[in-house]
Amino acid sequence: MFEKITVVGAGNVGATAAQRIAEKHLARTVIMVDVAEGVPQGKALDQWQSGPVEGFDARVLGANDYSLSAGSELFVVTAGIARKPGMSRDDLVRTNAGIVKSVGAEIKRAAPNAIVIVVSNPLDAMCYVMREATGFPRERVIGMAGVLDTARYRMFLSEALGVSVEDIQAMVLGGHGDTMVPLISYTTVSGIPVTQLLDQSTLASIVTRARNGGAEIVAHLKTGSAYYAPSAAAVQMVEAIVLDKKRILPCSAWLQGEFDLSDVYCGVPCLLGRKGLERIIPITLTAEEHAALHASAEAVRSIQAIV
Ligand code: NAI
Ligand code: 2OP
Repeated sequence: MFEKITVVGAGNVGATAAQRIAEKHLARTVIMVDVAEGVPQGKALDQWQSGPVEGFDARVLGANDYSLSAGSELFVVTAGIARKPGMSRDDLVRTNAGIVKSVGAEIKRAAPNAIVIVVSNPLDAMCYVMREATGFPRERVIGMAGVLDTARYRMFLSEALGVSVEDIQAMVLGGHGDTMVPLISYTTVSGIPVTQLLDQSTLASIVTRARNGGAEIVAHLKTGSAYYAPSAAAVQMVEAIVLDKKRILPCSAWLQGEFDLSDVYCGVPCLLGRKGLERIIPITLTAEEHAALHASAEAVRSIQAIV
């Protein structure tokens, strides 16, 4: 268990993540920071009061500044604006870059040794902004997207196959956008290659639906974007770090030659443990997947160039 975890942004993703962190006993104190007056305080008190029912002892506190967050071991950054219908993740870039930059400067001041998990969109470019703003090494600035994109892909596969989601092993790499790369060559169902169980056109439609997974939910909600699965995905990364689990999860990482890519944030298989990103796992891709990963990284690079 960590002493202190701070979630920045007490909106849909942030508040749900804070609640999950408390319920999973991952920190003694969970802090939510948001610019909206009263919102983090009110939500925190409400969550804390669920402790006696849910059986957690974490204190949940809310604030409009970072004084309570001094020395936090881990930050989950969800501050920013979310997508509305017709908006792509990249439309959020300018507004959220300013927000993430200011959050990064605060984190650097309040907790210079912290690990930061970025969630704000456009995800990979916001990781870049966070790394620039904090000056932290790549081990301590990691982005959440691949766990979510993979969860969507696994859910759609389990639905098509009529089998448990638990038996579907898969990984979605690349940037968190329309160019993301579900790896069919590494998709198995209890070890059975998925290509033996589903025909090509069904697989292709599942890949397309996974790529559009976020937009599909925005189209339903109309006033915001997904947050139950995103918060669960971010907290899976938190758990891997807090419990030093050495899990291999697809996360956005600053690449320095891995997969023949450099100076770009992109989703790749990452080993997460107490030190944050402890290792990037090199894997062999098919020529098609390799090309798709590079195309996706180039799409991220073009947004990185803006910020
Ligand atoms: P939301 O609008 O419900 O919450 C955002 C919160 O950030 C608001 O409460 C707002 O007051 C706060 N905020 C704005 N500026 C701030 C600042 N400078 N400091 C602290 N707080 C600040 O949005 P939601 O749904 O929680 O999404 C948050 C972000 O996460 C969005 O950018 C969204 O696109 C992104 N997202 C990313 C996903 C991923 O897979 N990486 C998945 C889902 C959402
Ligand atoms: C999602 O994929 C909007 O990035 C967010 O749901």
